[in-house]
Amino acid sequence: MIKVVLISGSLRRGSVNSAALRAVRRIVGERREPTEVVSLPIGRIPFYDGDFEYARTTAAVRAARSLVAAADALVISTPSYNGAVPGVLKNALDWLSRPDGACALSGKAVAVLSASPGGRGAIDAQPALMDLLDACEAVVVEHPPVAIARAHERLDESGEMTEPDAVAELRSLVDATFEALRILGEQRASVAA
Ligand code: FNR
Repeated sequence: MIKVVLISGSLRRGSVNSAALRAVRRIVGERREPTEVVSLPIGRIPFYDGDFEYARTTAAVRAARSLVAAADALVISTPSYNGAVPGVLKNALDWLSRPDGACALSGKAVAVLSASPGGRGAIDAQPALMDLLDACEAVVVEHPPVAIARAHERLDESGEMTEPDAVAELRSLVDATFEALRILGEQRASVAA
C-alpha cells in the first residue's frame, strides 16, 4: 500500500490549491497499485514554540508527525503570499522538521506544485519551499514546475479542478512521484542487500 499525504498551503474553503489536491487525489485513485491518500489539515497546528518541542506537544502536532512519518510520498500545493509560502504552511513544515535530526520529511518523496488566480501560478513560492525540503533531506520529485495559472478558471461549477490541461499536468506530476518512489525503493533494496 503506497501512502500519500496531501498538504494544501491554503486554509480557504474555496482554495484553488486545495482543489488541485482533490484532483491529485482522484488521479492517484485511478492508479493500479493499492494506494491510500490522506489530507493533512494544518490549520490547527499552533505556532512553533521550542518550549513545546520535546514535551507537551499538542495533539495536532503529534498527529501531523505520525501521518507524515507513515507516508511514502507527500504532495504539497501552495499559493504565493508576497512571493513566499503562507506562514501556516511554513509553520507546519517547521514543526515537521523537528526535533533536530528527526525530520519527519526526511527520505520522503515530495512533489511540489502551486496555483493561483494570477498569471504566474504562484511559481515564485516554489524555490524557497524546495530549499526547505532539501534542508530536511526530503526527496523533491524531479519534474518541470507545475504552477497552475488562472486556476479559478480551471474549476468546474462544483469547484473541482477538471480542466484537461491542469489535470494533465497534475497527472504527469503524480506519474513522476510514483516513478521517484519506484527508484527510491530500488535504491533502498540495493543498500539493504
Ligand atoms: C496573495 N495573493 C498573491 N498572489 C500572487 O500571485 N502573488 C502574490 O505575491 C500574492 N500575495 C498575496 C499575499 C497575501 C497575504 C494574500 C492573502 C494573497 C493572492 C493569492 O494568490 C490568492 O489569494 C489565491 O487564491 C490563494 O490561493 P488559494 O487560497 O485559492 O489556494
